[in-house]
Amino acid sequence: MGGATMRAIVVDEPGPPEVLQSRELPRPEPGPGQVRLRVAFVGMNPVDALVRRERLDWMPVRYPFTPGLEHTGVVDAVGPDVDGAWLGRRVLSRTSFGGYADWSLAPVRGLLQVPEGISLRDGCIWRGCTYTAWHALHRCARLQRGERLLVHSAAGAVGLMALQVAREASASVVGLCGGPAKVEWVRSFGFDAVVDYLDAGWPALAQAAVPGGAFDVILDGNGGPQAAHNHALVAPLGRVLYLGAMAGASPPPVPVGMLIDKSFSVGGMTLRQVEVAPGSEADLAMIAAIREGRWRLPVGDVVPLAEVAALHRRLEARALRGRAVIEVGGEAVR
Ligand SMILES: NC(=O)c1ccc[n+]([C@@H]2O[C@H](COP(=O)([O-])OP(=O)(O)OC[C@H]3O[C@@H](n4cnc5c(N)ncnc54)[C@H](OP(=O)(O)O)[C@@H]3O)[C@@H](O)[C@H]2O)c1
Repeated sequence: MGGATMRAIVVDEPGPPEVLQSRELPRPEPGPGQVRLRVAFVGMNPVDALVRRERLDWMPVRYPFTPGLEHTGVVDAVGPDVDGAWLGRRVLSRTSFGGYADWSLAPVRGLLQVPEGISLRDGCIWRGCTYTAWHALHRCARLQRGERLLVHSAAGAVGLMALQVAREASASVVGLCGGPAKVEWVRSFGFDAVVDYLDAGWPALAQAAVPGGAFDVILDGNGGPQAAHNHALVAPLGRVLYLGAMAGASPPPVPVGMLIDKSFSVGGMTLRQVEVAPGSEADLAMIAAIREGRWRLPVGDVVPLAEVAALHRRLEARALRGRAVIEVGGEAVR
C-alpha cells in the first residue's frame, strides 16, 4: 500500500452486520506505549460481533470504532518510549480492537510474539482458543484421566480445542453442536461421539454415549435455556464450567438444594484471570502440541477483509465452523 491512508472497517453506531462500513482512513501513528502493526490476519472472535451490537457491558467501546480483537501482524513503527527491538517482530495482539484495517495500533504490554513454526494465519487463533480450553479443563475443572467430558458448541474454536486437549488427557469426550455440517466437521478431527443438539432428544443421546450416562465435567460457552440440562447430565462430584453466553442469556440459576443433593459444582472462567506468562511449562507444552500437529487448530473459512459483514451475518446465523479468519495483508506482510 502506498500513501498515508489505509482501508479500515468502521462501525459508527451499534447495530446489525450492515453497520460494518469500509472507509479510507489516515494511517495511524503510534503514541506512548504503543506499536503499529501491519495487519496480516484477524480471527473472527464472537466478541467482535457482540461488541458491534453493544452486548458486552464489560467491554465498552467508543464509536466510531474498528473491530478486530485477535489479530497478527508485523510491527512496523513504535511509540516514542517503546523499545525499537519490537520493529519487524511477528506478533499477536488481542487486548485491543482495530484489526479490521491495514494497520492497527496496539499497547506493547498486550503483545505476544508468534512462536517460530506457527504461521501468522494460525497465530491469530492459536492462543485464544487453545489456552482457554487448556486452562478451563486442567486448572478450573481439574479434569482427571478417564473422566467423562461434555462440550457444548463443540464445532467452535474453543470447543474443538477442548475436545483435543481432553482426548490427550485420556478423558472420554462427547461434543454437542448444531446441525449435520458441524457434526461432520467435528468428526473430521477424529471424534465419533458427536451429538446434534438441534435434536430435542439430545440429552438422552449424550447420556447414551458414555458409561454411567453422566458427565464429570461439562464445558458450556452458550448458557441460555439449554444450560438447564447440565444439572441433570452432570455426575455426582461433577463440575459445570461456564465460559460465555453465546445463546444470549446467562444460564438459569441452580437451586442450592440441588447442588448439595447431587454434590456438584458450578463455576465460570475468563482467560484473563488464569492465563500464565509466555515461557511457562504449560505454555511451551501447548506450543509443542501445535507445532508437532498433535492438536489441529480449528481454522475455518478464510475470507478477505471486504467480506467481513457477510462473515458476521454467518456467525449470527450459527453457520460458521471453527474459527473463521479474515485475511488483511496475509502471510507476506512486513
Ligand atoms: N472465558 C474466556 O476466557 C473465553 C475465551 C474465549 C472464548 N470464550 C467464550 O467461549 C465460548 C466459545 O467461544 P468460541 O470463540 O469458540 O466461539 P464459537 O463456539 O465459535 O461461537 C459460535 C458458536 O456458538 C454457538 N451458539 C449457540 N447459540 C448461539 C447463538 N444464539 N448465536 C450464535 N451462536 C450461537 C454456535 O454453535 P452451535 O450452532 O454448534 O451451537 C456457534 O457456531 C463463547 O461464549 C466465548 O465468548 C470465553
